[in-house]
Amino acid sequence: MKIIAIANQKGGVGKTTTAVNLAACLAAKRKQILLVDLDPQANATSALGVTETGGKSMYGPLIGQSAAADQIIATRFANLWMIPGDINLAGAEIEVARQEDHLLRLRNALEPLREQAPLDYIVLDCPPSLGILMTNALAAADEILVPIQCEYFALEGLSKIDSVIHQIADGGINPGLAMTGIVMTMFDSRTNLSSQVVAEVRNHFGDKVYKTMIPRTVRLGEAPSFGKPIIEYEPIGAGSIAYNALAKEFITRHAAQAS
Ligand SMILES: Nc1ncnc2c1ncn2[C@@H]1O[C@H](COP(=O)(O)OP(=O)(O)O)[C@@H](O)[C@H]1O
Ligand SMILES: [Mg+2]
Repeated sequence: MKIIAIANQKGGVGKTTTAVNLAACLAAKRKQILLVDLDPQANATSALGVTETGGKSMYGPLIGQSAAADQIIATRFANLWMIPGDINLAGAEIEVARQEDHLLRLRNALEPLREQAPLDYIVLDCPPSLGILMTNALAAADEILVPIQCEYFALEGLSKIDSVIHQIADGGINPGLAMTGIVMTMFDSRTNLSSQVVAEVRNHFGDKVYKTMIPRTVRLGEAPSFGKPIIEYEPIGAGSIAYNALAKEFITRHAAQAS
């Protein structure tokens, strides 16, 4: 089992869209997936059409009041489970900071799931800030997948997340941690800008950048408001093709690493 944090402290770059759709596509390919919504805005939760959370979220486990396993709900998709997001997570930012081992709260809370749950991947949808929740996600993760929007200033801020990753890795909290994957999102083939940004990011990060690029499509933007991942909302379309290809590339990369 591997824990993948979908992280970038910038908002609106496609973290949640990638977390939800990668999770849904991996589940459709029979991987056992737990999607954890760490954003108090709970966009990943609503994007999956989960409206009844029963008060479940990572809030309790983060402050040591409940077990992560008890926060898991089934989704209407085979092989896909979720721990919903909740506005209480905003409070966790402050409360967790007061706890002992405040950087390791999430890691410790998820640890039992490595043994208990027959999962292939836990996908963490991170909030758009370098706060406690995101730092906890980085400390808990085996890998970080960074979505980058094909826009001006795409690389801006990446040095910040990179230095936090190094602090966490070098500080011994999570020694193996690295920015292992980059996904280019909202690619617009009609503009030179998108291609220029992709060239710049590939130049900078080389093989870390997934070959699959996620196009900007109206349907991908609409799907969350219907509470549907793209493979349900528009099974045959550019968005589904892209996220299925990303899931396939993800699986291939991990199979290569394992052997
Ligand atoms: N490939 C895409 N094409 C069109 N709209 C997209 C695409 N990816 C994301 N969006 C939209 O852009 C906005 C920001 O995306 P989101 O995934 O929520 O970013 P983040 O989680 O990084 O803040 C959302 O309204 C989302 O629906
Ligand atoms: Mg988000």
